[in-house]
Amino acid sequence: VTSPIPVIAIDGPTASGKGTVAHRVADKLGFHYLDSGALYRLTALSALRRGTDLSDEHALAKLAEHLQCSFQGGDIILSHENVTEAIRAEEVGNTASKIATFHAVRHALLGLQLGFRKAPGVVADGRDMGSVIFPNAVLKVFLTASVAARAERRYKQLIDKGISASMEDLLMDLQARDDRDTNRTIAPLVPAEGAHVLDTSNLTADEAVAQVLQWYAAIGK
Ligand code: DC
Repeated sequence: VTSPIPVIAIDGPTASGKGTVAHRVADKLGFHYLDSGALYRLTALSALRRGTDLSDEHALAKLAEHLQCSFQGGDIILSHENVTEAIRAEEVGNTASKIATFHAVRHALLGLQLGFRKAPGVVADGRDMGSVIFPNAVLKVFLTASVAARAERRYKQLIDKGISASMEDLLMDLQARDDRDTNRTIAPLVPAEGAHVLDTSNLTADEAVAQVLQWYAAIGK
């Protein structure tokens, strides 16, 4: 009997550090990496560019279903264009959070996400990786941090990139995004059953990575 390809699900709110942690864990283990948020962002970017009605669930689901995207190294390509930077814009993130409330959009992105489960394993980063997409993940982690710690991280990221930012706006945005992601009726942002909760407010990325690897190494022991 062959055992199923292992999935490590890392879920959590925006700016909790899960992208960095998930990426590094994947590198350490030689696993594939699924940035599921990028798929919602790609759909949002397509919709914004095409001027799709952001309340038209059917049209948005169609866009999601026919997304021409690929992940090449660290680069994200949409219809032959490198959109790695473009999808990180705040407007795209906020739009992604809005369209992610539609069941048809989530359903349209399902197959794409399942396709990332390839040998020797995958680290999946998102909101519903452990609860909905990979309920049989061998390890489920819910990464979180205080709103203040997350706003500070986001602020630093933006300033480092030379983008001006206001701490007050960031706090408000984060709170609004958390509320929407947590209170939506489908696939809300909540720790999956059996998930290890890791609060990174006072942890470095390295410490968080070490904890996840330790949990993974302990499986089956
Ligand atoms: O992780 P992120 O900030 O790139 O995700 C952008 C938005 O996409 C997030 O606000 C909610 C949505 N999302 C989701 O609903 N489910 C996921 N698995 C990943 C992201």
